[in-house]
Amino acid sequence: MHHEFPVHPVPANFRDAHINAEQYRSMYQRSIEDPDGFWGELAGEFLSWDQPWTRVVDYDFTKGEANWFDGGKLNVSYNCIDRHLPERADQTALIWEGDDPGDSMHITYAELKDHVCRLANALKARGVKSGDRVCIYMPMIPEASYAMLACARIGAVHSVVFGGFSPEALKDRILDSDCQVLITADEGVRGGKKVPLKVNADKALDACPDVHTCLVVRRTGADVAWNGERDYWYDELVGGQSTDCAPESMDAEAPLFILYTSGSTGKPKGVLHTTGGYLLQSAVTFKYTFDYREGEVYWCTADVGWITGHSYIVYGPLACGATSLMFEGVPTYPNYSRCWDVVDKHGVNIFYTAPTAIRALHSEGDEPVTSTSRASLRLLGTVGEPINPEAWEWYYKVVGESRCPIVDTWWQTETGAHMITPLPGATDLKPGSASFPMFGVDVALLDESGKEIEGPGAGYLVVKASWPSQIRTVYGDHQRMIDTYFSNYKGYYFTGDGASRDADGYYWITGRVDDVLNVSGHRMGTAEVESALVLHEDVAEAAVVGYPHDIKGQGIYAYVTLMHGHAPSDDLRKELIALCVEEIGPIAKPDIIQWAPDLPKTRSGKIMRRILRKIAENELGSLGDTSTLADPSVVDKLIADRPQP
Ligand code: WTA
Repeated sequence: MHHEFPVHPVPANFRDAHINAEQYRSMYQRSIEDPDGFWGELAGEFLSWDQPWTRVVDYDFTKGEANWFDGGKLNVSYNCIDRHLPERADQTALIWEGDDPGDSMHITYAELKDHVCRLANALKARGVKSGDRVCIYMPMIPEASYAMLACARIGAVHSVVFGGFSPEALKDRILDSDCQVLITADEGVRGGKKVPLKVNADKALDACPDVHTCLVVRRTGADVAWNGERDYWYDELVGGQSTDCAPESMDAEAPLFILYTSGSTGKPKGVLHTTGGYLLQSAVTFKYTFDYREGEVYWCTADVGWITGHSYIVYGPLACGATSLMFEGVPTYPNYSRCWDVVDKHGVNIFYTAPTAIRALHSEGDEPVTSTSRASLRLLGTVGEPINPEAWEWYYKVVGESRCPIVDTWWQTETGAHMITPLPGATDLKPGSASFPMFGVDVALLDESGKEIEGPGAGYLVVKASWPSQIRTVYGDHQRMIDTYFSNYKGYYFTGDGASRDADGYYWITGRVDDVLNVSGHRMGTAEVESALVLHEDVAEAAVVGYPHDIKGQGIYAYVTLMHGHAPSDDLRKELIALCVEEIGPIAKPDIIQWAPDLPKTRSGKIMRRILRKIAENELGSLGDTSTLADPSVVDKLIADRPQP
């Protein structure tokens, strides 16, 4: 399966890349043998410190503890803005491309400093201090970046909640990290449609009495409800503030942000990242993975509500003094050429997106691509889910005209930055493989018994040693950090992913091995969708699994058992879908609901998800052993009733 597609060697125009094959090998080896020397040097090269560290790294995986650059002090917003001003005050830091193709703007590094300082002063005026949590629930507008950087400037900890999440999901996240300030907008605009952010925020805040300040950016000018004691228009509160705000000198291990992500059980976890290690690895990987060169325009299509937006729209690019494009819209609006029109309009050199977007665009054929120039493109990237080789080849040949390497970057919210990825000047590309580990990332594959697999093989993907941008804790629940990541296999960080390694040492990520779905690159715990479904009074039980979906990668397949005496109906189906949207957001809509009179259970009452997965995947030939089921006939019934997708 790994060798059907040709290997693409490093192209001639990448021979002078930052890292060539030989450099990769020697730097990688040193990074593993001497992490202190390796990361210590890079920390000096990539970041500006107020005070040097006394020790590079100290960690203990059994306790889920990691400490990088102990004793060091720095400020993230200073590193992303102020220190660039002597050479780049007038260079564009952010290009904003609005949903409407006629809307765009350039923000220079000097302007960025003014925006961020004004907002930082406004937050201070509202009583926000170092260590306080601030929730950011925003559309993709520059103020989202200002908000993150303003928090970093004063040492406040931001928690960005994706603008597509429901009021219920927002409320849970505000409460979990005890945020007392919310920054939002009247409405968002995506694909020509309005997103009612302030309406959602109001609903969420009804249950959050400790939020004393809600700062609202005027994006559309919509008429919104107003709580005079709590709500402030952004322009009114921020506009008059001073453009000077001294950056707070923070400990290297001071919390920088919390970002919620789904796990296999219970509520989303607040992944906590800290200051020095996070910024270092996002900057280093930005420069090397994308082979970023001075003056280039870089575009990552992710939303700032996800880790990709944090590390590769805001922190990594700005720490490197790059020009980062932020796009408010969607790749399919107003038409399927939108991405390439934006590339041509702004001269984008590096383009980073998700496989689901590539598949959606691929399904519309070549014409929307070939009708554009794309001459500026030099490098392409993907992130978020495995990319099928067919989509890879199309991206490579049609979008990149066989001249742009593709970096398929594997990483996670918890890892903070790239972990396994090709380097464009060093790696011969195999379509569908994330290739080799990044500097300092010591990965291994384990078999069921927890033994390391040598050479080619498949198993659980784990990491053997701490890396600078690793998760530091699950906010407010360190035991959950230990249980989730450091307990399955003692002494290793457990990624939750399965992978194989071929004879050349290339890694191929196969996907989650836990109960986490990846729907269009969005992580979702099956347990979260199940909890939403069982809120309906007619529902007795629900089991959710993933199934292969042409565009989304994985679709959501829900088996629903109704209360005795209740009959399935189309209305009920609609109500259940609405419930998922209400509890989580539109990304959690089940694609298929199967009414299941019974679920396959063991004699002890445990749902056999393996069987439900096989039925959803239509892999009926490999159901495996069903003899341990309390009632094996349940399976035949489910197979007979399986709806045709
Ligand atoms: C999956 C996104 C295959 C994987 C940065 C991981 C990938 C989860 C890739 C993390 C890739 C991410 N190839 N699978 N290049 N990148 N994944 O936290 O299952 O939203 O565990 O972080 O996405 O998703 P998260």
